[in-house]
Amino acid sequence: MSQSRNFIFPMCTCVPAFVSSQSTQSMFSPTRSLHLSGVLRKKKPGLKNKSHSSQQWINRHVNDPFVKQARADSYRARSAYKLLEIDSRYRLLKPGNTVIDCGAAPGSWTQMAVERTNSALQNPAKPRGIVIAVDLLHMQPIEGAIMLGQSDFTDPAVQERILGHLDKRLSDAVLSDMAPNATGIHAMDHEQIIALARTAMGFATKVLCENGHFLVKLWDGHDTGLLKRDLVESFRSVKILRPEASRKESSEIFLLAQGFKRYLVHPKS
Ligand SMILES: C[S@@+](CC[C@H](N)C(=O)[O-])C[C@H]1O[C@@H](n2cnc3c(N)ncnc32)[C@H](O)[C@@H]1O
Repeated sequence: MSQSRNFIFPMCTCVPAFVSSQSTQSMFSPTRSLHLSGVLRKKKPGLKNKSHSSQQWINRHVNDPFVKQARADSYRARSAYKLLEIDSRYRLLKPGNTVIDCGAAPGSWTQMAVERTNSALQNPAKPRGIVIAVDLLHMQPIEGAIMLGQSDFTDPAVQERILGHLDKRLSDAVLSDMAPNATGIHAMDHEQIIALARTAMGFATKVLCENGHFLVKLWDGHDTGLLKRDLVESFRSVKILRPEASRKESSEIFLLAQGFKRYLVHPKS
């Protein structure tokens, strides 16, 4: 087991886009995470005082094969398997790469990025990567990653801090699993996640190297096509992906943009 994964951590409760606003807000809070980890440890979860939708959600979560697998593999969240599937197929992360992970808490994508880029120098024979993880929430450290917790990625000062850590290096991949607190009103949630995705895209087009990769999570909706069209301008290939680990009832999709045309976007760089 890698050092980035060898401790117990409350399992992340990623928010499905379909749930009601009441249950969504409570689901997203850190207290919910801690509470749920308590539930998962007990043999018979105490569901007596929970609302029907909460009970359904907890039952589904406890029985979810990706949740079980994440616990067995010591990943902090089931989302790890979304990145694992995408990376295994499209080869985004390699030893020696520099990767920025936006919306990283609790850290399963960061764990995966550390493993794949060798940023903790797990294999001294391979080049060492750099992983920078950013989230609004506080994050527990992960060996091999620079953790910028309690940091709003949309804040220019936070982006400056990331640039400071890059120290004039370009990045091989920018990943965004950022998601706002869902309201349950699909059009509004879609609009907010598109705004986060556009911020990540703006940053990616500043820092990516020639042929770099950009992966961004969305809740699908009317502006998906527009974002995809804008990405096509600066990347050689843009795909819409729906990994196995995305919950069936969620509108979650990922846009994967590969082959950044840096010399076209920044002709003088
Ligand atoms: C689905 S979770 C990420 C899970 C993570 N990829 C993992 O594998 O552990 C979405 C995250 O986006 C973060 N987020 C939302 N808006 C953000 C912002 N403006 N800046 C930084 N993080 C943000 C949330 O705090 C939340 O932790």
